Amino acid sequence: MANSFAKVGGIVSVLAVFIAILMQRKGGHQDLNHEIPNILQSLQKAEKKVEVDASTRVAVGFGGCMDVFVDAIDLLDAMSIKPPCEPEHYNTIQNEKELAKGFLYFFQYGAAAERFIGNTTLFDNMVDTARSLKGFRTAMGGNAPVMANRFAMEGADVLLAVQSGPHFKKLLKPGVKMVGSDVDHSDIHLIMEYKTGEKWEQHTSPRANRYIVHSDHFNPTIQTLEPFMEAYKDFKPSLLVVGGLQMLDNFPFRSGERQARFDVLQNLLIDAASRKTLVHFEFASFVEESLVSDLMEYVLPYSDSVGMNEQELPNLLSFLKFNNITMISETYPRVATVLDQMRQVYQLLHKAHNKVSRLHIHTLAFQAIMTKQSSAWKNTMSAAAHASLTANRHICGTKFVDIAKSKVLLDESFSTTSDAKAASRVPFDPKRPVSCWEEDYGDGEMVLICISPNLVCTDVYQTAGGGDNISSAGLAYQI
Ligand SMILES: *[C@@H]1O[C@H](CO)[C@@H](O)[C@H](O)[C@H]1NC(C)=O
Ligand SMILES: *[C@@H]1O[C@H](CO)[C@@H](O)[C@H](O)[C@H]1NC(C)=O
Ligand SMILES: *[C@@H]1O[C@H](CO)[C@@H](O)[C@H](O)[C@H]1NC(C)=O
Repeated sequence: MANSFAKVGGIVSVLAVFIAILMQRKGGHQDLNHEIPNILQSLQKAEKKVEVDASTRVAVGFGGCMDVFVDAIDLLDAMSIKPPCEPEHYNTIQNEKELAKGFLYFFQYGAAAERFIGNTTLFDNMVDTARSLKGFRTAMGGNAPVMANRFAMEGADVLLAVQSGPHFKKLLKPGVKMVGSDVDHSDIHLIMEYKTGEKWEQHTSPRANRYIVHSDHFNPTIQTLEPFMEAYKDFKPSLLVVGGLQMLDNFPFRSGERQARFDVLQNLLIDAASRKTLVHFEFASFVEESLVSDLMEYVLPYSDSVGMNEQELPNLLSFLKFNNITMISETYPRVATVLDQMRQVYQLLHKAHNKVSRLHIHTLAFQAIMTKQSSAWKNTMSAAAHASLTANRHICGTKFVDIAKSKVLLDESFSTTSDAKAASRVPFDPKRPVSCWEEDYGDGEMVLICISPNLVCTDVYQTAGGGDNISSAGLAYQI
């Protein structure tokens, strides 16, 4: 009903809001937690509106590994690694001192990170120590297999590019077809998890998250690319998902090797476009600027959709604007902040390649999905609701959402932009928790934006793989 004018990056955009009533409430911070039963019921209703067609085919790349989970602080204690005087960021870790400093750098912000350990002795020590600890567990890992399983659980037919061992294969859902060579073991990724408020001596983490380390030489070179390129042509997917490219980050490639792999990947994406296959790129925690630069050249020009979390969004935006990256940003960004960054990313990508038609930002507190109205993406509202519910189920490790283990972090209303002159407030309606509206970026193309609140899991089972599950859950509803 109401509308407002948002000046976004110099372009006037009209917000036609079709949710209930827009009103500016005066101050007051109302706790929405007593509304959780209503919110849950309404999200489930929105989720049930869509059923994934059994003829939906999705091809997912690249790579996979075995994830070894351990409590980060237990592991550091068991290895007698003490907090360093100063945190410091390292692109690759060579010894215990760098591990301590590099870990603390992210732990102090509760930010997720993934690093290559160049020292195999150190890495093997860590894995051996992890195996001796209570709470140690393993799971199938890597973005692609998690996404593939999620698509299969949603009811789609899936082709997965992964090289793997026999133990790994048993963890794939029926309905996932594999391409890639057999190996006798899968590479290990060590997931050092920590909880909200967990202490490492005098340091406290502001939120639950994980620091991932690996010493993997197979995945960074995307060995599955060639067999995948052959298989996907016969498979004829309607969606091609590209993930796991952060494995290339700070990997010690031979001269020209990375470039050669990107050339092959680019050919695949060009071929996909010629077959009208939609391409989704799952962004990740990238720190190497030249790698992000390669992604800009070889991957983003061919990506119809991009998925990422609240840390990766400002990172991508910074690169699009300034050619540099920001390692750490707000842990709990406001909706307005995320929306402003999304608008800029969308417009900059649109201007550069005129290819992007969907962005999905998964944050701890909410899901934000933006789709171009004339694009092939369907059911944006239900997809956002489904993504929210998947986040709770994944992080709690349960099939059903437990109200007693859920909380809402969003306020009773949110602002559509940080620009005070253009902002309008969207009230949060527990009976219609997903707010959607259209915006016009002045090129004759409307985009639809939906914000869905998360029922944040308060009893964390795992955070790793969350983004992959959530992103695929959203995508499965949109094709
Ligand atoms: C590799 O790690 C081991 C075990 O922590 C350590 O003894 C060794 O000094 C490290 N090597 C280098 C080159 O830092
Ligand atoms: C990136 O570059 C911009 C413009 O030069 C600068 O303002 C910003 O501080 C830089 N960010 C980082 C993280 O270096
Ligand atoms: C997330 O993905 C993993 C691996 O595919 C799966 O075991 C788990 O059940 C998924 N979580 C949800 C909520 O679907």
